[in-house]
Amino acid sequence: MLEEKDPFVYAHEKEKEIVWMSQNTNQIKTSPKIMESMIKALEEGKHNLYPHRDGILGFKDDILKDLGLKGEGFDALITNGGIEGTYTLTRSMLDEGDNVIASDPSFMPIHHQIELCGAEPKEIDIYKDPYKLSIDEVNEAVNGDTKMILLIDPLNPLGSSYTEEEVKGISQIAEDNDLLLIHDITYRDFAYEHTLASEFVPERTIFACSFSKNVGFAGMRLGALVMPEEYSDILHKYRTNVLSANVIAQVGAKKALETKEEWLPDMLEQSRKNQKIIKEAVEEIPDVHLPVYPSSTNMFVIDVEKTGLDPQKIQKKLLYEHDVFVRGGNYLSKTAGDKFIRVSFTVPEEGARKFAEKLALVMDDLR
Ligand SMILES: Cc1ncc(COP(=O)(O)O)c(C=O)c1O
Repeated sequence: MLEEKDPFVYAHEKEKEIVWMSQNTNQIKTSPKIMESMIKALEEGKHNLYPHRDGILGFKDDILKDLGLKGEGFDALITNGGIEGTYTLTRSMLDEGDNVIASDPSFMPIHHQIELCGAEPKEIDIYKDPYKLSIDEVNEAVNGDTKMILLIDPLNPLGSSYTEEEVKGISQIAEDNDLLLIHDITYRDFAYEHTLASEFVPERTIFACSFSKNVGFAGMRLGALVMPEEYSDILHKYRTNVLSANVIAQVGAKKALETKEEWLPDMLEQSRKNQKIIKEAVEEIPDVHLPVYPSSTNMFVIDVEKTGLDPQKIQKKLLYEHDVFVRGGNYLSKTAGDKFIRVSFTVPEEGARKFAEKLALVMDDLR
């Protein structure tokens, strides 16, 4: 039966027909300059050699410059995606019994990495207004075992982001309790405004970065950790790959950083337009709502709790009957997973329109 087929196998088999709104990937067309840089690198045979172990020359500096941290006592470690960065980070910094303050909903694979270290993610329920960590709740969650705070900002899956005051307040908690602050800034480029925790606690902040979402390199697997120089040795020691990361991806990402102002505004415009198209469709459907709008990322959550419908069933029906792939909430929350679906909208506009049309249909059918 189709329903029993693994959704990812189904979707990859029909890759071209699927509207991919399930993994916050970005299929809005990449700028020609970025594409050309990678094609040229392939033609020159760059892929025949290992890159320098610390990444292609100049790339680290470009990452630091992009964050305004060049010359500010920070170093970068190039990784195979942000997810390898957080793996290295958790492995090197956490011991058995440590606690990490985090949220639920969240990007749960990092929580799994924390657990692999014998440490415990202390998940604060944020599926309530304002749908993000509050300074008070973070403060209350600190105990003698707390080692770090995981601040995903903007937040997957809700699309919420933190104000300067909130980042400052959470940084202060890190300072007062001698904690590390892991600022996962995978979605920073989508935010209307964004404050880096390094503004307040530079010596305690480690950034987890990714090229999967902003420039659409999910399949290229490229990310970075950015850390105070004093943590450089320990993080490099634990890295899983001393031979660096995909060299073609690095060439493209370097070009993307160098030319950001040429491609980012257009990409954001399309992403925000798609977001609005979906919002308008959601408003027409009874008993559903968007907890966070506008989203500061390339995704948001559609709350379906009042309909009594199972988000997993909505996911299945959209996928197997309409080739639209979204995610039911259980992948993103241990406690609120039956209340929402997550939809990402960095897809070509026709994809967003198709989802907007099919969602109403599917909900009607299921009711
Ligand atoms: C918050 C967050 N961090 C890290 C990642 C990992 O990204 P990647 O490994 O593709 O760079 C993701 C992916 O969805 C994410 O949502």
